[in-house]
Amino acid sequence: MSKSIKIAVVGSGYVGLVAAVCFAELGHQVICVDNDQRKVDALRGGDTLIHEEHLPELLARHGNKGVVFTTDLAEATAQAAAIFIAVGTPQSETGDADLSYVEAVASEIARHVDSYKVIVEKSTVPVYTNEWIRRVIERNGVSREMFDVVSNPEFLREGTAVEDFLHPDRIVVGADSERAAKVLGDIYSPLTEGTYYKTAEPIPGICTEDAPAPILFTSTKSAEIIKHASNAFLAVKISFINAVSNLCEAADANVEQVSRGIGLDSRIGPKFLRPGIGYGGSCFPKDVAAFRSVAEQMGVDFNLLTEVERINATQKKRFLAKVRSALWTLRGKRLAVLGLAFKGETDDIRESPAIDLCEMLLGEGCQLVAYDPAAIERAKLELPPSAQMQYADSVEGAAKDADALLVLTDWAEFKSIDLEMLQRTLRYPIVIDGRNMFDPKTMSEAGFTYLSVGRPV
Ligand code: UGA
Repeated sequence: MSKSIKIAVVGSGYVGLVAAVCFAELGHQVICVDNDQRKVDALRGGDTLIHEEHLPELLARHGNKGVVFTTDLAEATAQAAAIFIAVGTPQSETGDADLSYVEAVASEIARHVDSYKVIVEKSTVPVYTNEWIRRVIERNGVSREMFDVVSNPEFLREGTAVEDFLHPDRIVVGADSERAAKVLGDIYSPLTEGTYYKTAEPIPGICTEDAPAPILFTSTKSAEIIKHASNAFLAVKISFINAVSNLCEAADANVEQVSRGIGLDSRIGPKFLRPGIGYGGSCFPKDVAAFRSVAEQMGVDFNLLTEVERINATQKKRFLAKVRSALWTLRGKRLAVLGLAFKGETDDIRESPAIDLCEMLLGEGCQLVAYDPAAIERAKLELPPSAQMQYADSVEGAAKDADALLVLTDWAEFKSIDLEMLQRTLRYPIVIDGRNMFDPKTMSEAGFTYLSVGRPV
């Protein structure tokens, strides 16, 4: 049985909350801190506040036991051996990450350090942040031997966050002291030694048979760069395949075949080669911009990332042009929109290309009726209901009498849409699919005018 360690996690957003309940699942004693009392109350009451698979079961199992929720950072600091900072690092106007929340938390922690603490950056932060955290803590009167700052980036994806945490491709620990590296090594030992997979009482659906996870120890600066470089590289892959899909459209080739053909090369790999309407979400757009800005500030030419962003923005415009090519004029057209979340299986609409496209279509004078399995309530805050912007509670409700149907998010459930129902319900059988959810041949045999991304009509 591995050692139970007292851990504080500051911030109960996606990363913080998932880390907190998963650390409890690994047998640690966790205090999760948030300065929003309403969030703390909700979490104490078992409400996860976000739509994320397996999170409710884990919260029910460990809430108010292995993981307790509080607003009291002082008490959490005093009790914990390791304090994970998982607060937001939003994008500032210049594209940089705004680190003011990280700084505020670091100063607050410093005021309550009374024994050796490992302070861990879990939020995505630019290189050098660990140095700043160290300086802030020292400035607040804490001597150097009383603490270490470690970078331990998180690589979880929304929608599969719990699985990603418990079955990571790798765990990265950037530590400049052996003492701190050992604390992190102990925290993750159930995963790196594979003991978790042997002893866990399985939560239905969570895989507990797995190989021990690899752990990589690096310098703190390398770990900070690993996080930004990983997300930027994945964004490069997406923009690359989007550019290839445009070429496929021009040449009448099929991007799916091309993607499979290049992805079978093990040096390239098959993942993140799905073309679409561009990447979105709370991470990629922000992290690519921040990484580009860090490079710029350090005098390093990283124009590749500017191009990645440009291709990403163009992808939405190309989709709009496709809608126009199918419908001629747009003003007054009634369009069914399937999907508002930035990707399937999440209710998150931050930087969602689907929301951007809705805004563009509303600007063109279209009338939209949108359906999303989970994101409607959040979407209503961005796109308030009106005569022009309506919401439906089913695919059928959205499709009713629409001039065309647009697929903007890759929700798995859209794949099994009843095509006969669509035929009956739509005013015209036109489907413009920004996520390549359907087979063009099946769609054309079912009588649809079907446009997708990078595949022959
Ligand atoms: C991403 C990374 O995948 C995680 O490893 C990372 O930990 C996380 O950011 C973060 O930094 O916190 P996430 O934003 O949840 O995770 O979503 P992804 O599944 O990576 O998708 C991002 C966007 O790219 C979505 O809009 C998705 O639709 C799009 N995408 C993804 C494509 O257009 N094509 C693909 O082939 C893959």
